[in-house]
Formats: sequence, structure tokens, C-alpha cells
Amino acid sequence: MRSARRTEAAPDHAEVQRRWRALVDERLPAAARPDWPVRLNHCFARILLDNACGGPWRASVAPPAWANMPPARLAEALALGEAVLAGRADLAELNRRSLAWRGHPRGIPAPRALREGDLLLRRRRHEDDAPFAALNADPEVMRFFPAVKSRRESVAEARALDGRFAQDGFGPWALEASGAFVGFVGCWRPLRPLPVAGDAGLVEIGWRLARGAWGRGLATRGARLALADAFGRCRLPEVVAYTAVLNTPSRRVMERLGMVQAGDFAHPALPEGHPLRPHVLYRLRAADLGGGA
Ligand SMILES: CC(C)(COP(=O)(O)OP(=O)(O)OC[C@H]1O[C@@H](n2cnc3c(N)ncnc32)[C@H](O)[C@@H]1OP(=O)(O)O)[C@@H](O)C(=O)NCCC(=O)NCCS
Repeated sequence: MRSARRTEAAPDHAEVQRRWRALVDERLPAAARPDWPVRLNHCFARILLDNACGGPWRASVAPPAWANMPPARLAEALALGEAVLAGRADLAELNRRSLAWRGHPRGIPAPRALREGDLLLRRRRHEDDAPFAALNADPEVMRFFPAVKSRRESVAEARALDGRFAQDGFGPWALEASGAFVGFVGCWRPLRPLPVAGDAGLVEIGWRLARGAWGRGLATRGARLALADAFGRCRLPEVVAYTAVLNTPSRRVMERLGMVQAGDFAHPALPEGHPLRPHVLYRLRAADLGGGA
């Protein structure tokens, strides 16, 4: 039974890989128009793969991409290439996004901090590791996550989150209230593809605060500062947020920000029947910031 399934699934992916190689090595270079920004196979591959991954593709998979890229992602890059050939996708715009993700942004570098009254959004410091590990080990804070985190996992997560600033020019900020670290809030590109339509290039916003900081509207205020930076300096057109359907506090923050419910999905990392598997997705367009109660 198991081997039968494998032989059914394998040709599909092999076919996608074959079509991908034909697309970037032959069809796109042959079709290159004078107004296209690139004409070489590796440039087409970079643009399509980055856009399918929502960031530099090498950040998530080792080369060669045609062999190592997860099937769904490669199929998405292939579909994007077909759209370029058919004139349904703008290669110049896709190229601009790819270059921006790779540190060629024409944009302004991230500020050291953003401030509003007693609230400060700043880059991670080593002193944050202990209070961050403490909140990640608190079962109440992690109630809507599959598990609490060990100190080692917490430090690795903090480093990875802060690394997003170098990669994308924005990321999750450490949040300080009245001089004390209380958690993080900010925008980043999802680490894994989201099982929602048009996930390529999506940016999400998220937050996690120590229990003692809850109930004072800090997450919403911090998110507003982060969004003003994301929509202003970074010129993002839209962000999404998602959480377990059961996570009312987080959904309340999304609603206060004026985010609009835009669907639901089953979290792919959680098994069927898990209470946290049903997730809800919200969206906010730059033009709509400022809405909400
Ligand atoms: C979600 C979270 C960031 C909200 O932060 P916050 O600064 O407390 O947000 P707010 O003060 O605006 O309160 C939002 C909602 O949280 C809930 N809340 C506030 N204080 C609470 C408390 N002490 N205990 C339980 N729920 C509380 C309320 O439902 C509130 O909505 P309401 O004011 O309409 O009743 C925070 O609860 C948290 O860090 N939770 C754990 C991590 C998490 O789930 N992150 C989101 C993953 S998607």
C-alpha cells in the first residue's frame, strides 16, 4: 500500500522538476523580451523561487533548488513562470521584490528603535534572553502553542527572529514597557508556506507577551508602531495575522488593529482532532491602518 502510494506520487514531482528545468533553462531565456530585466536562466530561477518562498530561497533550502525545493513550492514557482510567459505576471515587479529581499532595497534601513510614550520597540539584546525564556516556559503564555519552549529553543528562536531584520529589513521587535522587556511584536515573512491562497510574498504580524504585561493594550500599541514602520518605511502593501480559533486574546488584538477576517485553515503541523488545529486568518491593507475600535 505504502509503496503503491509512493509510485503514484513520484512521477508528479519528477514531472514538475522536468518542466521547471525546461522553463528556466530554455523557455524563459528564449522568450526574453527587451523590456525584461533579466535573460539568463539563473536569474529567472532566482526571481521565481524567491517569490514562491517569500524571501531569498536559499534561506529555506540548499541548492540545487530544482532537486531540493519542497514540491508545492517548486510547483508554485513553476506556475509563476508560466504566468510570466503568458503575460499575467510582471517580471520586473517580481525582480524588484527578489532584489529587495536580498539586501538591495532602495528603502531606508531599519531604525534602531521606535518609541511611543513609555513604549519602546527595539532590536534584541542578550539581556532579553532570560525574560524571553521565562515567558516561553510559561504554560499560560504558551496555551495556544503546541508546547512550551526550553531555554535553548527560546534563545535559538530569539536569534532567528532578530535575524529577519538582516534578511528583510524588518522583523519582530523586542517590546519594552516602562523600561522593562515584556516580549516581542512585529512583522516577518512566514518561515513555512501558509496553506492559504496567494501565500507567496505574504508578511505576517505577531506578538507574544509575558503574562504580567497582559491586559494593558500593550500588544495593540506595539503592533500599531510596528505596522506604521512596515507600511511606511518598508512600503508593505498588506500584512496578515493568524492564530488558533480558540485564541481570543490574540484575535481581539487583530480586531482592534482593524484587521479583517479573511478565512480559516487547518494548521498543517498539528494532527487532525487537535484543538489548536483550526486557525483563523486576518488581513490588513496599508490603506486601512487606523481602523478598529
Ligand atoms: C495575545 C496577547 C499578545 C495580547 O496582549 P495584551 O497586551 O494583553 O492585549 P490587550 O491588552 O489588548 O488585550 C487583548 C485581549 O486579551 C485578553 N486579556 C487581557 N488581559 C488578560 C488576562 N489577564 N488574562 C487573560 N486574558 C486577558 C482579553 O480578551 C483582551 O480583549 P478585551 O480587552 O476585548 O477583553 C497576549 O495575551 C499574549 O502574549 N498571549 C500569549 C501569546 C500568544 O498567544 N500570542 C499570539 C499568538 S498568535
